[in-house]
Amino acid sequence: MRLTILGGGGFRLPLVYGALLGDHAEGRITQVTLHDLDAGRLAAIARVLADQAKGVPDAPRVTVTTDLDEALRGADFVFSAIRVGGLEGRAADERIALAEGVLGQETVGAGGIAYGLRTVPVAVDIARRVARLAPDAWVINFTNPAGLVTEAMARHLGDRVIGICDSPVGLGRRVARALGADPDTAWIDYAGLNHLGWLRGLRVEGRDELPRLLADPELLGSFEEGKLFGPDWLRSLGAIPNEYLHYYYFNREAVRAYQEAKQTRGAFLHEQQARFYAEMERPDAPALATWDRTRAEREATYMAHNREAAGAGERDARDLESGGYEQVALALMRAIAHNRRTTLILNVRNRMTLSVLDEEAVVEVPCFVDANGAHPVSVSPLPPHAAGLVCAVKAVEREVLAAADSGSRATAVKAFALHPLVDSVTVARRLVDGYTSVHPALAYLR
Ligand code: G6P
Ligand code: MN
Repeated sequence: MRLTILGGGGFRLPLVYGALLGDHAEGRITQVTLHDLDAGRLAAIARVLADQAKGVPDAPRVTVTTDLDEALRGADFVFSAIRVGGLEGRAADERIALAEGVLGQETVGAGGIAYGLRTVPVAVDIARRVARLAPDAWVINFTNPAGLVTEAMARHLGDRVIGICDSPVGLGRRVARALGADPDTAWIDYAGLNHLGWLRGLRVEGRDELPRLLADPELLGSFEEGKLFGPDWLRSLGAIPNEYLHYYYFNREAVRAYQEAKQTRGAFLHEQQARFYAEMERPDAPALATWDRTRAEREATYMAHNREAAGAGERDARDLESGGYEQVALALMRAIAHNRRTTLILNVRNRMTLSVLDEEAVVEVPCFVDANGAHPVSVSPLPPHAAGLVCAVKAVEREVLAAADSGSRATAVKAFALHPLVDSVTVARRLVDGYTSVHPALAYLR
């Protein structure tokens, strides 16, 4: 089995390779092709992977290339984990929004729209090439904003593209742990869009255990989302929101914390990652140890400003290990490759799952996965407050897709202006001016 990873020089690659190294079953991935535009980053990551493979006799063989078509030909699975404009672009997305007094974040609000406008044309080009060069391949999209990018690719690849995120699994695991339930056997009723979803139930042996959690302030305050949102708000909602909803429910506090921070997340990561890749240019640098130290620092600071704004304190040590998106990816590939039926929360086309959205809308919901792909499962309907947000944000995503298609600047302005976290059309216009003046990848907007 051959897996091609786009964005193969990316920092999180060793997580994926580490998961593959633990898979010894028949039909596992035996060959990994890394593609990246930057040969230096590819070489750095290839060194980390070589360290990881030491002493593992059946380690998947790794090759690298900067030729996209070559990377795609013959692939059984394609992971897309690209970052158009790099971390420098992410930092600019944040900075320009925060200067206008609105949220600057990778996937939410103005920052997410800017990132989407840059990424969709590139993702569409990849999807077209996959359709031509590897029509039987399954595409697993990690590229953020993951829901929007998956929908853009699905227009060319249909159900052959599946979007993944680790935040719903992480949330499910934390809620299960708080309830003393087994996260692997509990049924998690979660639905929404990527980074905009709610856990509305957790069933153990047919009984919903969530009411027990909502009734217990101490239990509610014991895990990440309880600390971030506060027990009272979770009780009012009657559900546990994805942590990214902190940007909506506590928008002022989040914006202020981000404005006052010494550095935005993107600026911090830009500096940190640049240091890592520079260190890796020294031939004597211990590749795996250098990577691991950088990873630990990156994870320890994840959403630090939100936690600070909420007075939530340190993140639970059990959450410092990455939420496990590589495990989601591996579980998804195995279920498809071996027809081993499993349930995962994934980004797929809606069909009839959420009645407030049309069939083509990519949503994030529990899915049965088998050799035929991911099949969304019916979930409880969204309550009106959640349906309202989901519909508003999906409408924005559709404007982003339309702007990427037509190159219309007016449509891009509409996308920003309609977002619930952008409070003025004037601001939306200035955001488009600001973003187009710094991002070469937005030159297509006229
Ligand atoms: C979570 C999100 C991902 C995001 C990741 C890393 O896992 O679900 O979408 O890419 O965090 O965030 P960071 O700020 O460390 O890049
Ligand atoms: Mn995510």
